[in-house]
Amino acid sequence: MDDIRLVEVGPRDGLQNETYPLSVANRIQMIEGLIDAGLRTIEAGSFVSPKWVPQMAGSADVLRSIGRREGISFPMLVPNLKGFEAAREAGAEEIAIFASASESFSQRNINCSIDESFERFRPVLEGARDIGMRVRGYVSCVLGCPYEGNVPLSSVVDVARRLHNMGCYEISLGDTIGIGTPRVAAAMVRAVATVVPMTAIALHVHNTYGQALANILACLEEGVTVFDASVGGLGGCPYAKGATGNVATEEVVFMLEGMGVRTGVDLPKLCNVAVRTATQLGRDPASPISKILADP
Ligand code: HMG
Ligand code: MG
Repeated sequence: MDDIRLVEVGPRDGLQNETYPLSVANRIQMIEGLIDAGLRTIEAGSFVSPKWVPQMAGSADVLRSIGRREGISFPMLVPNLKGFEAAREAGAEEIAIFASASESFSQRNINCSIDESFERFRPVLEGARDIGMRVRGYVSCVLGCPYEGNVPLSSVVDVARRLHNMGCYEISLGDTIGIGTPRVAAAMVRAVATVVPMTAIALHVHNTYGQALANILACLEEGVTVFDASVGGLGGCPYAKGATGNVATEEVVFMLEGMGVRTGVDLPKLCNVAVRTATQLGRDPASPISKILADP
């Protein structure tokens, strides 16, 4: 089980829904802290419309300041060609596109239907292929939608398959509103694994209903080896009302290490980032263990 990979999404998902945006300088400090704690894949921001998500303005400055680091990737979220071009100009070597398994969420989040979103992604994938840029693909609402409730498994499987066929090297399955429970999550992953290799599947869980760690364990047992998480349990999507934070990275690391999986992450250093970032945001970190393990 030592081939488990963590994708830290705190600087993007963690911050995109905060009432008071974290400054570019503080976002850079957060990412430096995550690198120092041993994270090797860190989503550093997004190139979306600043009118839609003002919290992510300045992502180019964040990425340029961090620069390239040996063995570390900094995927940037992009919704369309404009975002791709901005990412490329800022020096991104990896991007993530994001689709939804629910029509209503697609409309609210990116202002287009699922099919239209794939038309927007096509030139992005072509452009990325031409310059050897890696592309990750998200599917939102895999276990429920804030507007439609249940989402048919067939839609989840179909959107995951289309993203993978299009050239995304990894498909991150997002429980956007954190409503899934372990057996349902495991069944969803099994269904997606009929069209996308298990090695190319990642799980992206929010912890709204306190099910995140249980869902990770259930999907780990199905064979998933890549898990998205956010330091301090920060996170949420502005277009999924009521959806709270992602699973806290420190909780995932604590669970995995307890199971004998070496993550390469220094927990006290990670918890220091959680506490410092929460303080900068003017709130308490969502994960209790960050308060226990952070250096005083
Ligand atoms: P739109 O209004 O339909 O776009 O928004 P448009 O093409 O009509 O353009 C309107 C304006 O936006 C124009 O500017 C464009 O230039 C500009 P104006 O002429 O009015 O000044 N624009 C852009 N600016 C900067 N970067 C861009 C860009 N594209 C257009 N890339 C759009 C469509 C997709 C842009 C918008 O809906 C948007 O930005 N949505 C992003 C929403 C978002 O970031 N949501 C959170 C991330 S997804 C998530 O959290 C889920 C995930 O975590 C997984 C899970 O948990 O499920 C990944
Ligand atoms: Mg998310």
